[in-house]
Amino acid sequence: MTGCVTHGWWSLSSFVPNRLETAVARANRKSFALTTSCLSDRAVTIAASDNNYGSKQVISVTPRVYDYLLTNVREPPVLRELREETATMHGSQMQVSPDQAQLLAMLVQILGAKRCIEVGVYTGYSSLAVALVLPDLGILVACERDKHSLEVAKRYYDRAGVSHKVDARHGLAADTLTSMLENGEGCSYDFAFVDAEKRMYQEYFELLLKLVRTGGVIVIDNVLWHGKVADPLVDDKKTESIRSFNRALMDDERVSISMVSVGDGMTICRKR
Ligand SMILES: C[S@@+](CC[C@H](N)C(=O)[O-])C[C@H]1O[C@@H](n2cnc3c(N)ncnc32)[C@H](O)[C@@H]1O
Repeated sequence: MTGCVTHGWWSLSSFVPNRLETAVARANRKSFALTTSCLSDRAVTIAASDNNYGSKQVISVTPRVYDYLLTNVREPPVLRELREETATMHGSQMQVSPDQAQLLAMLVQILGAKRCIEVGVYTGYSSLAVALVLPDLGILVACERDKHSLEVAKRYYDRAGVSHKVDARHGLAADTLTSMLENGEGCSYDFAFVDAEKRMYQEYFELLLKLVRTGGVIVIDNVLWHGKVADPLVDDKKTESIRSFNRALMDDERVSISMVSVGDGMTICRKR
């Protein structure tokens, strides 16, 4: 892991590439041979060989590696407090991880985004990470159907002094996005993050594609779905719908895509 610092942030290139290669390989359905480099519980690298790609060392994220990664995340104190409060709540496993939130915030900064959308706020961890890096005149439309968790999120937007940058919308996200389009807001957003109902991904994506400008970025969480998408024995409805969404994106010429193995897997789509 060779990190370099750009404008006070770890650059994207510092820890993603090896893991990205795995995703690319899987997406292309190539027959990679994967072998761990040693058999102890310290084994962290897998050798992937394929005639088309050569031999690559791929890092597998063991608890030890992930702990190390987390010690290299810059997490603002207010986000840590929110994470600790959420840990005591029902559904806390839904919250994005600190490394994921840091990546989202960095994408927003790289893009110079001013207008953002989040679908699926829960108690606000990812939305707060984004709001913290938005410029003072920026806006994040935060869509959440659960009133109770949205109240927690709002309390933290206040505490962090970013409430003026967050337009919290209580209700079904598809309804909110549709009304934004009806309101003439098409092509006016720079960035969107989707982290809600898996079976709605295609619908959210189609609505967001109309709301986000050309050159904007849409990030979709959980596209590896705890690895279930790669397991042929798993055929429940959520897994199947994520698989079919992933397949559809592969063929979708309206966007450039990148599947990243961070957290539970994210797809980053940039409009062409
Ligand atoms: C995985 S959690 C979001 C986690 C959040 N991004 C974070 O970092 O804490 C998903 C959230 O989406 C919300 N949700 C699910 N379906 C929804 C819908 N149709 N409309 C709006 N919110 C929805 C759930 O209530 C839940 O709070």
